[in-house]
Amino acid sequence: MLTPETINILSYFYALGNTPAVCLTQSLPPGSPADILLLGCGDVRNILFTSHVDVHRQLDLTCCDFQKAVLARNILLLSLIIDDSGPQCTKILWGLYYHFHLDDNCHELLRSQSQKLHSLSDTMEAWHNSKYGPVLKFCDSATLADVRTMWHFYITSREGSEKSHFEAHFNDNLEETRDIEVDLKSRARARRPNPMFVTDDGPLLHYGTDPLLGFHLAAAYAPLQAQSRLFTKSVSPKPQQRAVETAQLEFSNWVDSFSKRLKSVTIRFFSGNALAFSHSLLHRRVNGGSTGNWYRDRYRAETLKLNGPEFTSGSAPLTFDIIDRSNLCDHVGGLNLLTAVSPLLRNCASSAVYTEILHKRSESPQKAFDHILCGHTPTVSLLLGLFPVDYWTNVLP
Ligand SMILES: C[S@@+](CC[C@H](N)C(=O)[O-])C[C@H]1O[C@@H](n2cnc3c(N)ncnc32)[C@H](O)[C@@H]1O
Repeated sequence: MLTPETINILSYFYALGNTPAVCLTQSLPPGSPADILLLGCGDVRNILFTSHVDVHRQLDLTCCDFQKAVLARNILLLSLIIDDSGPQCTKILWGLYYHFHLDDNCHELLRSQSQKLHSLSDTMEAWHNSKYGPVLKFCDSATLADVRTMWHFYITSREGSEKSHFEAHFNDNLEETRDIEVDLKSRARARRPNPMFVTDDGPLLHYGTDPLLGFHLAAAYAPLQAQSRLFTKSVSPKPQQRAVETAQLEFSNWVDSFSKRLKSVTIRFFSGNALAFSHSLLHRRVNGGSTGNWYRDRYRAETLKLNGPEFTSGSAPLTFDIIDRSNLCDHVGGLNLLTAVSPLLRNCASSAVYTEILHKRSESPQKAFDHILCGHTPTVSLLLGLFPVDYWTNVLP
């Protein structure tokens, strides 16, 4: 199918999320299993936070992002949590996932884990039979191949001009971002560029990347009881130091919870365009077959085929209790996405589609709704079969 397309000259790599973590199951009745679709999934914060606060629920999360580097770094982190956890390990995971420079230990861990994942992912079958297969799954073989190229990128040793080229690219990436090196003494040996903050195919790290944005920092300034899981002993007068310690503690709590509930979580990954993925899921449900002849993304002539083992066997979910669209409507248009995702929502009163907007284009939330829906909200939502709860219950600010 040929359709008009504009070339996206400037695209960014969102290694870290820029909004605080949310509980994806907040609208669901307690206890029932949840199938969740994350479109433009970004980093792992929403997955870890949800599995931390909603401990007793069986979670099946399908994560789609068109940036393979986002998926590769997420899977690497989750695989390390599956391997082991403990206070020491969590500190290293924090360094690996959030710091732009690594010390020798962290760098060696990144290399050895990437090597391990690369060798386990030779084929779809080998991956699904590996230690990580029961929790971390791939929707199609092209996604597996995509993230493998990133793991290979992480283990590549660079010398001479290749090394200087990589370092120059890395520094370009970091030009506008800020690191959170509050403990300069202990971080003094972290000199190696962290390759998990670059992509192998061009897009620059987003200028607003800030490791603290994904956390809930109020606990850094509130007088908490010592028994609270968010209590830190810090007496530092420096607000930034307190914020970093709170974020690290929250991350450590998330990792701890996730490592204890591996049997009740399944995470599926797809790298490609959110619209193509949504339409292909619907096509699979309605017509069967692995492809609806969509391209995986708009810049590659590669057909999207849902050929992962669980799609072939029919055990992967094709309808969802929750669909989270991040702020994709700022990128691809609200109505384009809603028409693609609303047929995927399970027909149940508690099912919900979440969306965020970060570009303020309207002077009131009511107008923002009209803008997202490209028309009169009550009429368009009726046509879509969706019910904008906040709009009708008057809880909009
Ligand atoms: C919309 S972006 C913005 C950052 C977001 N507010 C967050 O905190 O993660 C979130 C993710 O969507 C991905 N993305 C953007 N456009 C996409 C598309 N058309 N299909 C799939 N993923 C997309 C980006 O790679 C990024 O990882």
